[in-house]
This record gives sequence, structure tokens and C-alpha cells, in this order.
Amino acid sequence: MGTTWTVVSPIVFTYQVTESQDLLDPANNTLLLGHITDAQQLEDIKKSNKPIKRFVVVDQEVHRIYGAKLTEYMEANNVQFKILALPTTEENKSMEMALKILEEVNSFSLDRRTEPIIAIGGGVCLDIVGLAASLYRRRTPYIRVPTTLLSYVDASVGAKTGVNFANCKNKLGAYIPPVAAFLDLTFIQTVPRRHISNGLAEMLKMALMKHRGLFELLEKHGRVLLDTKLQGASHVTRIAITTMLEELAPNLWEDDLNRLVDFGHLISPALEMKVLPSLLHGEAVNIDMSYMVYVSKESGLVTEEEKQRIISCMVGLELPVWHEDFTMELIQRSLQDRLKHSGGLVRMPLPVGLGQAEIFNNTSCEILHRAYEKWCDELSITSGNSCDP
Ligand SMILES: NC(=O)c1ccc[n+]([C@@H]2O[C@H](COP(=O)([O-])OP(=O)(O)OC[C@H]3O[C@@H](n4cnc5c(N)ncnc54)[C@H](O)[C@@H]3O)[C@@H](O)[C@H]2O)c1
Ligand SMILES: [Zn+2]
Repeated sequence: MGTTWTVVSPIVFTYQVTESQDLLDPANNTLLLGHITDAQQLEDIKKSNKPIKRFVVVDQEVHRIYGAKLTEYMEANNVQFKILALPTTEENKSMEMALKILEEVNSFSLDRRTEPIIAIGGGVCLDIVGLAASLYRRRTPYIRVPTTLLSYVDASVGAKTGVNFANCKNKLGAYIPPVAAFLDLTFIQTVPRRHISNGLAEMLKMALMKHRGLFELLEKHGRVLLDTKLQGASHVTRIAITTMLEELAPNLWEDDLNRLVDFGHLISPALEMKVLPSLLHGEAVNIDMSYMVYVSKESGLVTEEEKQRIISCMVGLELPVWHEDFTMELIQRSLQDRLKHSGGLVRMPLPVGLGQAEIFNNTSCEILHRAYEKWCDELSITSGNSCDP
């Protein structure tokens, strides 16, 4: 008989998600010091004459628009800095890109305890930098600054990092949260309209699962939100983030497999990878949600009128509601895969009325097929020829 030692070592992560205006205003020190919550530590840093040192990774397009302002900000605050601008697109969301960042971080030589790496960009940039930081010296702190709507309401608030691998979305990654996420809605002003819709899809997900009021806001004011790129609509993003955090925070490591935030994410990862780069993440999620609303209707969980309202809202947000590559075969394959990785249960979140949901494990094949046929009949753009049961 050998000896067994049991090690129990709970890890507590505390981080802030902070909305701040004009993060790049030289007078605003949030970006440099906002992650420090200990008053004494903050005082000491402010008193010491030691310059602050920061490594910043920025999405290339964001750098094109905001690079000069960022450099000015760093210089005005006497920061020793390196800005690395990279084409952090979905096709480049790879370990190679993470390694490239790590090589640069390594030559910059930062203090792993006190000098967090800053990531400024969309979800792809935040996910890759988060993973790179988690690997560097086993865990280097990092800060997220989302610049797309999708990353503002979703990718910036949780703990997940990752890159695509073996043709699968986010197959390599870690659950290591940032030390802080700083949210500035003014970045969203320059986001292309299609990417605003993309972010609205993740907001609609939370609305359908948990918040009827948010659904009604998106239903009534979707067009205005798109036109104004949510400038002045922080009350709307605030509901979305609060609702998202209510779900994420108690289950940061995703130990509980029953997750409402998985709505729209059962079939969409396979679709997204299959047609890359033609569909954006939120677009693929919306197509998945649209089909699932039909599953809800066929299961008697939403009425025909509620179904119509949800689909009209999606169309109003200029999101795709159907796709020819979203086939019955893809649905079945994805659900089987889900069974394998989800403890033998499908755990399918479905809307039950508007703004409420439940998780179902025994939706029959017959319902899935019937929903698919109706979905194709009613929503396929090329009338009635693309159904592939
Ligand atoms: N970690 C998580 O919890 C989580 C959650 C949701 C999504 N994600 C990931 O996020 C990714 C999608 O994120 P995304 O939609 O932000 O895509 P993205 O990072 O590819 O950004 C979209 C495009 O917008 C451009 N851009 C970014 N900010 C801009 C700005 N302010 N002005 C003009 N252009 C700008 C970028 O150059 C890019 O071309 C996916 O890979 C997804 O897996 C992660
Ligand atoms: Zn998502």
C-alpha cells in the first residue's frame, strides 16, 4: 500500500469589470492603475518616482485608429512601454500568434507580479493575449480593454481565454480571469455596423434567457441602437453585463454544466468553423438561436406569436436567421459531441416564454426534425429547396 497525500488549495480570483469614459485621456489613470484595489499599494506607486512599465498588445485595426492616441497617453504618463500591433483576426487565432506575443513579452522583460500585460481589441485579441499571459511564467496578470460590442458585453467579463486548434474553436485555453477589464463605450463608435449586430446577438442571448425587459428594449430600439452604435446607451450594456455576470460569476470554471449562457452555442461552433471566415461569431450564434426558438415552439415552450416576435427582433437587429450550412447532419453531430463532453446529457437551454429559459435533456429527434423543416420552410432565403433533413 502506498501513501496518499490529499492537497486542497482553493484559489480565489478577484477582478473588477469597470466602465470608464475616455480611457485614453492622459488625465485618466484607470488603464495604468485601475486594477490596483489596495489603497496603500496605490499610494506607494504614486509616491515612488519609478516609471510604470507596460506591455500592450493591440489589434492592428484598432491600432490604426487609436494608436497615436495610445502612444500619446503612455508618453504623457511617463510609461516605459512597448505596443505590439497584431492582426488578431479569427483566422489568426492560433498558438503561433500566442507564441509570437510571448517572444516579444520575453524580450521586453516585465515584472510578472506587478506589470500586467494590457490587451486592447476585440474578442480574438483578448482571448489570445489572455492565454499568452496565463502561460508566461505560469501566470502573468493581464488587463482586458474590449473595443468591439461583442467583446464589451461578453468576452471581457468572464474568465475564459483561448485559441483555435485542430480545426476547433478555442480548443486550447485556460480559465484565468484578467486582473481587470476596463470598458469604454466610445471605442464602439468606430466598429463597423455588421459588428454592432454581431455584439447585439450576444445581448439578445442574455435577453432571451433571463431578461424580458432587455428583450423589449432590443425589440423596440434595435434600429436606433444600431444607428447610434450604442453611444449613450450604457443603460442597455449595463443590463446585458449584469445579467451575464449573474450567470458567469458563480460558475467561473464552468463546473456546473447546466449553463444558460450556452444558448446559441450548441451547434454554432461547428457552423462557425465550417464556413470561416464568412460568418462572425455572433451571427453563427444567432442562426443557432433562431433554430432553437423553433425547437422551443415545437416543444410547446413558446407560442407562435412569441416565436415570430423573437425572429422579427433578430431581423431588426440585422442578424442572419438561417444558413444553408446549418444542416440536420451538423445539428446531430454537434449534439452527439455535446453528449460526450457534457456528462452524457445534452443540456439544451431553451426559451420558455420571453426572457425566461430552462435546460432540457430529452428533446426528441422527432421534434428536432420537425423544427428543422419548419425553420427551413419559413426562413430559408431560397424558397424551400435547401432543407437537408
Ligand atoms: N472569452 C470569452 O468568454 C468569449 C466570449 C465571446 C466571444 N469570444 C471570442 O471572441 C471572438 C469574437 O470577438 P469579436 O467579435 O470582437 O471579433 P474580433 O476580435 O475579430 O474583432 C472584429 C473586427 O473588428 C475590428 N475592430 C475591433 N475593434 C474595433 C474598433 N473599435 N473600431 C473598428 N474596428 C474594430 C477588428 O480589427 C476585427 O477585424 C471569437 O473568437 C469568440 O470565440 C470569447
Ligand atoms: Zn459567444
